[in-house]
Amino acid sequence: MKNIGILGAGQLARMLALAGLPLEMRFGFYDTTGNPSVGLDPVLIDVDAIPSNPALQTFIEASDLVTYEFEHLPLPVLKYIEEKVTIYPPVRSIEICQDRAKEKALFTELAIPTPAYRIVESEAALVTAVAELGTPLVSKTTTDGYDGKGQFIIKNPDQAKEAWQAIGGRPLIVEAFVNFSRELSVIAARASTGEVKIYPLAENEHHEGILRYSTAPAPHIAEETERQAKLYIQELIESLGHVGILTLELFETPNGLLANEMAPRVHNSGHWSIEGAHVSQFENHLRAISGLPLGDTQATRPTCMLNIIGNKGDINAIMALPYAHIHLYDKEERPGRKLGHVNVQADSYEELVWRVNNVAAYLPGAGNYQLKS
Ligand SMILES: Nc1ncnc2c1ncn2[C@@H]1O[C@H](COP(=O)(O)OP(=O)(O)O)[C@@H](O)[C@H]1O
Ligand SMILES: [Mg+2]
Repeated sequence: MKNIGILGAGQLARMLALAGLPLEMRFGFYDTTGNPSVGLDPVLIDVDAIPSNPALQTFIEASDLVTYEFEHLPLPVLKYIEEKVTIYPPVRSIEICQDRAKEKALFTELAIPTPAYRIVESEAALVTAVAELGTPLVSKTTTDGYDGKGQFIIKNPDQAKEAWQAIGGRPLIVEAFVNFSRELSVIAARASTGEVKIYPLAENEHHEGILRYSTAPAPHIAEETERQAKLYIQELIESLGHVGILTLELFETPNGLLANEMAPRVHNSGHWSIEGAHVSQFENHLRAISGLPLGDTQATRPTCMLNIIGNKGDINAIMALPYAHIHLYDKEERPGRKLGHVNVQADSYEELVWRVNNVAAYLPGAGNYQLKS
């Protein structure tokens, strides 16, 4: 039996634990936000996240192995933990994935195409970068961004100063706005033996920077697109020496794929795999980090994950639908907050669209579900 310590106490930690209990794993959670939502015990809370905190000592002592659900963690704390107990995925993976500048540098080093970009550390440098790259552009903080937070779209050169005021005062990345045909992601698991398994690509639809729908396998994927996506994630996972799940977000364009960002962890665009794959991303993450054989990553049927954002709508009506698998996160309703998701499977994409829209009808703001191709 293994005692696994998870840095973070949100829904990803919760779903990791739910996947690990049948494998005789036990879990403890370390929360640095003061606002854990995992709904499971024990949660140790340490809002300062400094090595000398007694909560951290207790957490380390209770863990045979440490993993995390969130990459925006202070490196000194991670390095301190690493000296006492194994952390998987390795700290280098977090170090790169928590900083968009390092992430993009790795894409470039591995010749993985990515939107044209500049890193800027002052308003003047931003103005120059905007002039060089041309508009429209997306500016983002190099660290701490998620769910579209810390971003500003620069539609014309006059907006450079406004962008610096809105999100600057810290290093920014400014990148070409990509007119993508759709967003895709690819998720892989790598074991410490070097074994790698890759999930089918997911087609992702975002609304206001937040993921709303993921469909896997992404319909109508060209063979070459699939080959490229799998090659890129394989190169990334190996060059990082990563152990666990790694996710790569991609833009599909008429000229091929562009890498957007990656995450060294289980990912919202992989939640479909709980019912949709033989072995979910959560279980494969745990298998990978604890030296167990990896499980099959194939999709069993076309599957869609629909996020429940802001409010739970008529959740009882959704429960009455025979094809809706509901996953709630034990969180209070709040605008823009991820409260849960619903997984739906079908035998065809047509039937899937019909079923998902039946679910969406009970969720205010869910919009209309349509596949891009
Ligand atoms: N360069 C870009 N061009 C067009 N859309 C973008 C670009 N960068 C980000 N976006 C949109 O914003 C979403 C969130 O941005 P992302 O870089 O993935 O940050 P995060 O997910 O960490 O908030 C993307 O999924 C995409 O829809
Ligand atoms: Mg993203």
